[in-house]
Amino acid sequence: MTSFKDMVFTPAEFAMIAKLDKTLVPQLEAEGKLTTTKRKVGNVERKVISLEDMQKYFQNLRMSASGLGAVSADRAFPVEAHTVESVAEATGFKLDAPSHKVQMFYNVKGGTGKSTLTSQYVMRAAMMGYRVLAIDLDGQGHLTVNLDILDAHERPTVYDVLINDLPMSDAIMNVAPCLDLVPANLGLCNIEIPLNNKPRREYRLGEAIAKIWDQYDLIVADTNPAASILNGSMLVASELVNVVCATNPLSFHGMSLVMATIEEMQREFQRDLDVKIIPNMYDNREVISQEVLGELRSQFADFCAKTVMNRSADINEATKRRTTVWDVNSKGVAAQDVNSLTEELLFT
Ligand SMILES: Nc1ncnc2c1ncn2[C@@H]1O[C@H](COP(=O)(O)OP(=O)(O)OP(=O)(O)O)[C@@H](O)[C@H]1O
Ligand SMILES: [Mg+2]
Repeated sequence: MTSFKDMVFTPAEFAMIAKLDKTLVPQLEAEGKLTTTKRKVGNVERKVISLEDMQKYFQNLRMSASGLGAVSADRAFPVEAHTVESVAEATGFKLDAPSHKVQMFYNVKGGTGKSTLTSQYVMRAAMMGYRVLAIDLDGQGHLTVNLDILDAHERPTVYDVLINDLPMSDAIMNVAPCLDLVPANLGLCNIEIPLNNKPRREYRLGEAIAKIWDQYDLIVADTNPAASILNGSMLVASELVNVVCATNPLSFHGMSLVMATIEEMQREFQRDLDVKIIPNMYDNREVISQEVLGELRSQFADFCAKTVMNRSADINEATKRRTTVWDVNSKGVAAQDVNSLTEELLFT
């Protein structure tokens, strides 16, 4: 079992993520644009790319695309020096910063896949070298566990930040290169009453996030399945809310309430919030799954994500192993779904 921070990628996997032909890998190495290492698998030595080296490749690519590469040529490569960037552009690899920096996964209905998709998304975005902060706003601590943090009961949480005025930076822990976390534990379940009694209760979380905002490219919260004040304050702090809807009738039934809650928050706090509905656990062999997806697309046409997350054993396996679906099966449907979801949530 490999934890996310120790993951390594084969040249073919790297090429798939970078949207390049894998025959370019030796060339990138020769030009000092990509570092590879040798790893013994059985009796054979294999060339692999560590998570950190892959992140450096993407960071340098973005730096050179924004013109900064020319200034620090030892850290990044000049954009005009090679065609790799244009290859990346031609294949659709995006070099932009995320279009919505502060995002949340939300649904008042439980068990729709919020924590699962949050953890897969933040790990996938970190793989691309974005500096990501994940925030766990659910006392169940499932995002925390999914990111392989098992000692959260000993750590500060958002409770300490919002109720005891702990600086947000003191609640942040590192999980992997480019991935930090504000963990959660059971104590967070008791936050509603003390938070209700605090002045400016809905603004406190946004103000705490603002203090660390410039240290990250992407900040993503997983929320608890309720119309709680804590979730409300994350709605006030967010730019994009990702509503995870399982493709079953009850989950669909709850969607009108979720969308109404979001609209009400926008009106009350005068927020301009973008909304994406992510259909999850879709099974194309089930008529009911097809029907619910059809209803979602017709009733919420402006909000429905293009990506549909299929129901997949790989996702459950990744949850069990507390790692990314990439580590379970990089060629599977779930890894592809997480790729396209990540791209969609980062760049639209
Ligand atoms: N696309 C999927 N395919 C298969 N299993 C999935 C998928 N998405 C989520 N699951 C599984 O569904 C279960 C519930 O997911 P998760 O805990 O993420 O839901 P949640 O919305 O966060 O729940 P809660 O409301 O309690 O916080 C998990 O075991 C997870 O592995
Ligand atoms: Mg959850």
